[in-house]
Amino acid sequence: MQCYQVKKTGGLDNLIIVDSKVLEPLAGQVLVRWRASSLNYHDYMVAVGGIPCEDGRVPMSDGAGEVVAVGKGVTTWKTGDRVMSLFFPNWLNGKPTVTNSAMVSGDTTDGYAREYSCIGAHALTPMPVDYSFTQAATLPCAALTAWRALMVEGNLQAGDSVLIQGTGGKSIFALQIAKAAGAYVYATSSSDEKLEQLKTLGADEVVNYRSDEKWGRTLWKQSGGIDHVLDVGAETTLKHSVEAVAMGGNISLIGVLGGVTAKLVMPTLFFKHVKLSGLAVGSRYMQEKMVSAINVNNIKPVIDKTFAFTELKQAFEYQTTGAHFGKIVVNYDH
Ligand SMILES: NC(=O)c1ccc[n+]([C@@H]2O[C@H](COP(=O)([O-])OP(=O)(O)OC[C@H]3O[C@@H](n4cnc5c(N)ncnc54)[C@H](OP(=O)(O)O)[C@@H]3O)[C@@H](O)[C@H]2O)c1
Repeated sequence: MQCYQVKKTGGLDNLIIVDSKVLEPLAGQVLVRWRASSLNYHDYMVAVGGIPCEDGRVPMSDGAGEVVAVGKGVTTWKTGDRVMSLFFPNWLNGKPTVTNSAMVSGDTTDGYAREYSCIGAHALTPMPVDYSFTQAATLPCAALTAWRALMVEGNLQAGDSVLIQGTGGKSIFALQIAKAAGAYVYATSSSDEKLEQLKTLGADEVVNYRSDEKWGRTLWKQSGGIDHVLDVGAETTLKHSVEAVAMGGNISLIGVLGGVTAKLVMPTLFFKHVKLSGLAVGSRYMQEKMVSAINVNNIKPVIDKTFAFTELKQAFEYQTTGAHFGKIVVNYDH
């Protein structure tokens, strides 16, 4: 089988394809034939060495595929089951801990840029019904983060307002989840064309964060304060998120697209009674609940572009242009 490895991290040219043996599943494991993965900013950082990893690490945290063999003692899966990976393969339930968050797919443990792998039967969930592998591969990182921020930590109620920032995979899932839950959605983008696409997907009000330098204040004036803000830019966005958020509202700190540090005026936070919380993806239980909600609400991912397995480098290069709207997927079928 073919398998990607990150050699001597430091650039996309260090992403190489090697031939590797397909192993038999041990007791408690299943053998999965991976059929697709999708790109996240985290995967890009691993691939280029921004997140240093072990030499030879198999990248990509998202995988969708089918069970092709079952090891001894496994009763939860059978051959032919359609499954998705977990970002944290050992965080099954309950709160995050140092132990259950230590293993990160495609980072501190091998990921899913490979055609087959043996994996603990616990480290998978079912795919949504009627989803293709291409669609399911978009969910484990981006969609679960949006789901957790809004529905788990945010306890979103119908009628609440939500702000999504930019048109990357995670933000588009947040828009879809928020609309399915009956929220009023504000959205930003650097592109007027993408703002129109956001409206087509259900965004109620949109602001161009490039042409409006005071977009946080604009959103505050438009909304009177937004209940749930999903911040993806940190250095370039957090100040605006604090301006736009409602009294007593939530800001979920999710991304660092604008830089890893941010300056904040503390009294504004106190007097707005803002709840600021950092979060990283979610548990298996949260992923299972999200899959149920996707099934009931018939949410389908927005896929901008697909690439072949051999084109992972080109897929990352496309991601860095920022031209995409939603997810970028790599398909493994030849
Ligand atoms: N904490 C977690 O668990 C978690 C999980 C998933 C993702 N993330 C993080 O969330 C961020 C977004 O992830 P993603 O996978 O959705 O990325 P992505 O698909 O690469 O998103 C890129 C889009 O974000 C917008 N953007 C870029 N720079 C921006 C900036 N400085 N301010 C505002 N928007 C900006 C642009 O949208 P427009 O073209 O519309 O302007 C761009 O097209 C990343 O930092 C990622 O690491 C975190």
